[in-house]
Amino acid sequence: MMNRIAVLTSGGDVPGLNAALHAIVLIAFKKNVTVIGVHDGYDGLIDGRFFEMDVQLVRNIVDRGGTILRTCRSNRFLEHEFRKKAFEQLKRDDIEGLIIIGGNGSLTGAEFFAREFNFPVIGIPKTIDNDVSGTDYSIGFDTASNTIVEAVDKIKDTADSTSRVFIVEVMGRHAGFLALRSGISVAASAIIIPEIKPDIQKLLSFVEYNWRIGNHSMIIIITEHSIPDGGMGLKKIFDSRYPEFDSRLTILGHVQRGGSPSAFDRTLASTLAYHATNALLNGSKGEMVAFMNNKFKFIPLSEVANKTNQVDNELMKVAGGLSILI
Ligand code: F6P
Repeated sequence: MMNRIAVLTSGGDVPGLNAALHAIVLIAFKKNVTVIGVHDGYDGLIDGRFFEMDVQLVRNIVDRGGTILRTCRSNRFLEHEFRKKAFEQLKRDDIEGLIIIGGNGSLTGAEFFAREFNFPVIGIPKTIDNDVSGTDYSIGFDTASNTIVEAVDKIKDTADSTSRVFIVEVMGRHAGFLALRSGISVAASAIIIPEIKPDIQKLLSFVEYNWRIGNHSMIIIITEHSIPDGGMGLKKIFDSRYPEFDSRLTILGHVQRGGSPSAFDRTLASTLAYHATNALLNGSKGEMVAFMNNKFKFIPLSEVANKTNQVDNELMKVAGGLSILI
């Protein structure tokens, strides 16, 4: 059994990270294992920004967004020289295992690091984009979807009252999970996701048809990067095509990444962390704990690295049935 393990959060922050940290520290504490927190993700690992976490520190953090460890997207960790430095920092501090809570890029880095130095690593998936391969859900996606729904419900009030078309740009990078789920939840008129080649003509015909029959207020949810310039690109198309109509653009931005985690994300984060800590302490390595088909299971990090989760076909059918999905 290990005596000393470390944990870090890497990439974009999400709601639910603190719930995971709370669970890791508690499980380890009950087994007399010391947890070392690494500040600032992989950069902190390289520089040895380590500190001992105790139960008192995590007692009241399950409901807090962000991460008390802070996080970053590290360019240095892409280079062997710096990964070696990170490995040496762990050895110097007698750390025997590492839990990495991250998204696609971070878990790809985790796989590389674990293999390169034969170091025991367990990964936990988190990203509001929900595109980590091998798991149906990543920490943060549920809360971010709810944040979008809450915001768009408010936008709908003003859209209906002013008979305007509202374009709402949501995050997701190159994945349409957030747009699909929130678009269905707010009964959006149209949903634009990167997985489908955009058919702007189809969208414009649909909008024109709605205007003709008197439906002047519409909500169009668009994933950032799904067309050139995302929501701004679509707004420009509207403005040049229909100068007489008054459309508005809302870019929800980083508001989607903050806030108190939902009950789902708190439970998901706590359960993933529970399994990850126990697995690491029991000798597992090079794996990620995943939530798939309503079950928690482990998959090799090599099956996660450099891959992405695909949006659900069933959900696309539903979205296509209820809205214009392009
Ligand atoms: O990957 C999470 C995410 O929030 C994406 O949805 C978004 O494109 C990106 O991070 C934003 O990154 P940053 O916080 O570095 O601007």
